[in-house]
Amino acid sequence: MSEGAPIVVLEGVSKGYGEGANRVEVLRDLDLEVHRGELLAVVGPSGVGKSTLLHLMGLLDRPDAGRIILGDRDVSTLDQEARARARNREIGFVFQYHYLLDELNAVDNVALPLRIAGRRTEAARGRARELLERVGLADRGHHFPDQLSGGEQQRVAVARALAMEPPLLLADEPTGNLDRNNAEKLFSLVGELHLLEGLTSVIVTHNEEMAGRCDRVFRLAPVGDESRDV
Ligand SMILES: Nc1ncnc2c1ncn2[C@@H]1O[C@H](COP(=O)(O)OP(=O)(O)OP(=O)(O)O)[C@@H](O)[C@H]1O
Ligand SMILES: [Mg+2]
Repeated sequence: MSEGAPIVVLEGVSKGYGEGANRVEVLRDLDLEVHRGELLAVVGPSGVGKSTLLHLMGLLDRPDAGRIILGDRDVSTLDQEARARARNREIGFVFQYHYLLDELNAVDNVALPLRIAGRRTEAARGRARELLERVGLADRGHHFPDQLSGGEQQRVAVARALAMEPPLLLADEPTGNLDRNNAEKLFSLVGELHLLEGLTSVIVTHNEEMAGRCDRVFRLAPVGDESRDV
């Protein structure tokens, strides 16, 4: 396959929530390709469907219509178990809140996806330590989440997302709770991972400056902007 071939393709994807009078159409007939190695920013007003889009790409939810192709297969038709397996191996998630487990230290938080995938404890911890070193937290492995700063917590979350070496990182406002300095550090880290490891990332952000530093910006516009009779 040629360089820059898409890692994710969305074809005619539609998604809404609710029924009848409560029905909300969020995405309508959306086409999007994310290329290998690309750092793609997704921006748009609050409520436009950025998280919805990320959840669909991350196989956390299913489209109402359209196809989603991950790598070279159509994942819109996979059953729940196959989707969960694909999620564990092919996709890393980072959210605005870190979702680290309070009762586990940084090493064991990062090791968790590896343990779930069946790796032995010591092998998983060894790999977790390498990952923590890569995100600049080699000396924080034994700290529990409440002993880490917000920026450090998010970097642990990135290390955890990358534990299974997924080709695709999906991040939903990963710097939303961080101050400028920590946001900058986290963003630089993702940039480094792209250069050094050929990662592909889709980052939802409200920060235009950060979006502008990505390879490409995808702007999501509200559906139904066209005037219609009520
Ligand atoms: N599970 C759900 N049930 C019903 N409506 C939902 C659900 N999830 C999202 N929505 C609605 O879908 C629309 C898009 O939500 P989404 O979370 O994708 O927006 P967003 O672009 O990520 O916004 P923000 O920038 O505030 O995070 C919103 O109007 C929201 O209320
Ligand atoms: Mg959102």
